Amino acid sequence: MSSDTIPETMQAVVQNTSAREYRQTSPIFSGTTHPEMKASVQEVKVPQLDDNDVLVRVKFAAQNPTDWKHSANMSPPGAILGCDFSGTVVKLGRNLKNPNIQLGDQVAGCVHGGLFKDKGSYAQYLRAESDLIFKVPESINMEQAATFGVAWVTTCQAMISSQHKPFPPEKAAEGDWYVIYGASSSVGLFAVSLGKAMGYRIMAICSPHSYDLVRSYGADEVLDYHEGDPGVGEAIKRISGGGVINGFDTISEGASFKIILGGFKENAGGQLNVILPAPQETYEIRKDVKVVSTLMYTLFGKAFNITPTAYKPNVVAEVEGDRDFGVEINKHTPELITKYGIKPNPVRIRGTLHDVTAGWEDMKTGKVSGVKLVYKIA
Ligand SMILES: NC(=O)c1ccc[n+]([C@@H]2O[C@H](COP(=O)([O-])OP(=O)(O)OC[C@H]3O[C@@H](n4cnc5c(N)ncnc54)[C@H](OP(=O)(O)O)[C@@H]3O)[C@@H](O)[C@H]2O)c1
Repeated sequence: MSSDTIPETMQAVVQNTSAREYRQTSPIFSGTTHPEMKASVQEVKVPQLDDNDVLVRVKFAAQNPTDWKHSANMSPPGAILGCDFSGTVVKLGRNLKNPNIQLGDQVAGCVHGGLFKDKGSYAQYLRAESDLIFKVPESINMEQAATFGVAWVTTCQAMISSQHKPFPPEKAAEGDWYVIYGASSSVGLFAVSLGKAMGYRIMAICSPHSYDLVRSYGADEVLDYHEGDPGVGEAIKRISGGGVINGFDTISEGASFKIILGGFKENAGGQLNVILPAPQETYEIRKDVKVVSTLMYTLFGKAFNITPTAYKPNVVAEVEGDRDFGVEINKHTPELITKYGIKPNPVRIRGTLHDVTAGWEDMKTGKVSGVKLVYKIA
């Protein structure tokens, strides 16, 4: 069933030559990447739908570091890039798991972009699973809705699912602290917002130029990561009266692990969540703190080869329960926005499909701070 005339072909940002042969063994998402991205706007087929898919006419697509990292390191030729989107449902698959989705609905979410020829958000149309998208509430506009993609589900996965917490969140014990390292990043701002909704006091670690921003998302205390280790850890302990047991490192690179681990309370059963593969030494810094790594792609519920251009497959296995949690996130996102006050990232419109690779370059060279780059597609 479709609501309007859908063309046979569309414009999309597509990988045009193979990302380099994958030689690294680890870490998969490290900053060590090929110097050039290898994608451009091309005319490709509008995706066909599986039974549980809907076709979305994309209005806005938002940018994540994973987009340029895929193009530089992992994407096979022909793959459509991009994950985050908002848009209008224009066609329904034959057997939707979420029957509440209807033609004409304004929806948003993220898809597994960068690996498949028929899946990606830097495109005029995309296919998405009906129960892994959400209806956009009236309190936010469509460009803001596009920011509730990769960074938002990553935050929920790290702070709720991997901590075995209830969802939607229950209130934390009064006075408990949550430390967010990299609080001005896209993930970091969602983490501050969600931590606040969970009732935590938030200690936000970022650059001083981001202090006002993270405070406006709910941070109670701010610290500058440039102070390094052991200064930041000592400050966390002083402010919290002995150390914390909840931490989320939304950068997970370089000195970040050491800096935040220094603020954990001794032998108190603390957990630090990280979102890039941590070097082995990280697990030795504080053996009394559990370090847990998550990858948002497991929320799509399918095993996949993360390095399809390598001579040897690198398969990420399906994680039991993760797809169900992905469905829960999307089911509750509208009420988390309207009732729990989760705020979208600040939006900067960076252009159209033709500006995507230039935007990747901005991100890759550290020019993006405290904003989400969003592209107007239609
Ligand atoms: N595991 C997963 O599934 C998953 C999902 C999403 C993202 N990620 C990864 O998580 C990272 C963050 O993603 P994002 O979209 O949130 O990034 P982002 O918004 O592009 O991050 C930009 C921010 O990073 C901050 N920053 C840069 N270097 C820092 C450092 N050394 N210490 C603290 N803050 C620093 C900057 O803060 P200031 O300007 O305040 O200095 C800036 O605001 C990326 O590497 C991404 O690939 C992983």
